[in-house]
Amino acid sequence: MPYKLLFVCLGNICRSPAAENIMNHLIEQSELNGSIICDSAGTSSYHIGSPPDRRMSVAAAQKLGIKMCGRARQFQKSDFQDFDLILAMDRENYENILYLDPSRQYHDKVRLMCDFCSQHTLKEVPDPYYGDSEGFNQVIELLVDACEGLLNHVSNQKTVF
Ligand code: 4NP
Repeated sequence: MPYKLLFVCLGNICRSPAAENIMNHLIEQSELNGSIICDSAGTSSYHIGSPPDRRMSVAAAQKLGIKMCGRARQFQKSDFQDFDLILAMDRENYENILYLDPSRQYHDKVRLMCDFCSQHTLKEVPDPYYGDSEGFNQVIELLVDACEGLLNHVSNQKTVF
C-alpha cells in the first residue's frame, strides 16, 4: 500500500499545489514513484476547479524547472480516512482542518508543513496571494526544505516500503 500525503492551504492554487508538485519531483528523483502518493486541497471553496496560480507556476519553473499540475478541490471529511498524513501550510489551515474532526480521532494525522523544515525557522508557509513574485519564490524555497524533511520522515517509517 502506498503512503498517502495530502497538502492543504486556503485556496489550493498557490502553496499546497506547489508542495504537491515539489514533493512529486523529489519522489521521482528518489525513485520512490508509487510508494508515496501526493494530493492537495484547500480549506475554502473559492477556487474549486482552478489550475495553480500562474505566479506560482512561474516561480516553480524558474527555481526548479518543474511544471505545476492539478486542479483545486476543497478539503473534505473523507480525506481524514483516505490519507496517512495531512500537511497544513499555516496555523489557520491547521485549525480549519481540525474543526472538521471534533472527536479528534484524526488529530495525529494533521501536522504543520514547517515542522519538517531543517534549514528555515519560519513556523508557517506565508500566504503569497496578495504579495509580489519574491513572496512566491520564498514559498518555493521553504517548501523544498520542508518536502526534503518530509521525504526523510516518511522513508524512515518502517511500515512504508
Ligand atoms: P493558497 O493562496 O491558500 O496558498 O492557495 C491563496 C489563494 C487564494 C486566496 C488566498 C490565498 N484568496 O483569498 O482567494
